[in-house]
Amino acid sequence: MSRDVSSASAIKDLDRWIRGEFRELNTELEEIYFSEKAITLHDRADVDNLSRLLVRDGGELISRVAEHRELPRDPDARYELLGMIGFYLGACRRHEVQPDQSQYASLAEALAGSLGVAPRFSSAHQHIHNRAVGGAFNSFTTLASERVFLTYNGLAVMAYRRAAHALLSIPALGVSNPLATYHLADAVAALRDVMRYSQALADELDVDRFFYNIRPYFKSYRVGSKEFRGANAGDFAAINVLDVLLGLCSPHDPFYQWVIADKYPYVAPEDQKLLRALTAIEPLLTTVVRELEAGVPSAPLRENAELLLDVCRHYGAATVFHHHRLVVPFLQKPAADAPQERHSDMTASGPPLEEVVETLARLRDLRAARQRPDLVTARAALDRVRELLDDADEPATPGAAVGSKD
Ligand code: HEM
Repeated sequence: MSRDVSSASAIKDLDRWIRGEFRELNTELEEIYFSEKAITLHDRADVDNLSRLLVRDGGELISRVAEHRELPRDPDARYELLGMIGFYLGACRRHEVQPDQSQYASLAEALAGSLGVAPRFSSAHQHIHNRAVGGAFNSFTTLASERVFLTYNGLAVMAYRRAAHALLSIPALGVSNPLATYHLADAVAALRDVMRYSQALADELDVDRFFYNIRPYFKSYRVGSKEFRGANAGDFAAINVLDVLLGLCSPHDPFYQWVIADKYPYVAPEDQKLLRALTAIEPLLTTVVRELEAGVPSAPLRENAELLLDVCRHYGAATVFHHHRLVVPFLQKPAADAPQERHSDMTASGPPLEEVVETLARLRDLRAARQRPDLVTARAALDRVRELLDDADEPATPGAAVGSKD
């Protein structure tokens, strides 16, 4: 029992430090880098002292938790603890200092093993599992720009989750059910929110602050002897539920299978269940085309098919916005001006920026159902729905009842 209490109090001490001094130290370092417009600075006494303090204090607190060789029973508490160790290691990587992990790498591995996730912090530790205390949620710094980034990014993730939740209710109702109309309209509203929050992010986030003081915390880092790719804002399952449920991406496409496999260890445990279920989904576009082709459509089927086209339009617009108003101005352009030796260091996932942008462009074109000679997109299925709806709008043959297959 006494071991339990001291283990819990060691975790509490770490939590207090992560919410307090950790953020202050990072903020002080960030202000120094920013004043010099540098990503990191070496051989400067003030920077060395601050980062030494960060490495020492965090390392001691995490080692004290590790000494107990026991994990919290509650899975959410385990995920939260993994996040705390991850914030610390992410910050060490960001300041380019090497902590001695020998005392606690096995704790991170044990936590991750018990949850089935990568042993590092992921973006879910910031927007899905981020317990606020007294109104303050976990962040790396106290900079206003990081707050802007986390808030709008988190809100956009919530809105995607809302859209996915709404659409997941449709297969059990059927696409011609008037109750499905409610869920489709909800998905459209949620995707409008994604756009609204993304626009607010693009307008309010300072490009230089993001580039110099926020982005560097999301890089890949090592735990024990293995390197784990960086965190990115897309590491949540709702986006993939939308891709597959709408019928814009296929879980049988090798490229898309790679996207899912790469993402799997980096999403929260409850999101992994959603990713595993993707292969069993029948796309709504397929169902709608089949039912529209079956005969004169009922009024609810027509309304729902129009709404499905709307959902796809809003979804595509959000992905195009992400690319042109977030990725390009906040990452690609500033990276082009960075010193050549830093280019391999520019993305969360690790590969060179050009490769990451190419992968994202492919996802964008699938999600926006663009016509691309090298890609099979859902453009033909969307055009087919439009055509079937237009045919159904033509004056009815005298005597044909709405909804009749004759
Ligand atoms: C300044 C803001 C942002 C920038 C610069 C940015 C940049 C990026 C980059 C570079 C990637 C590729 C990740 C990598 O492999 O390194 C990515 C992925 C992604 N981002 Fe963003 N992003 C931003 C904000 C957002 C927001 C607000 C959302 C909405 C939730 C979002 C959703 C996604 C998704 C869904 C992916 C992954 C694509 C996938 O695998 O499905 N991003 N982002």
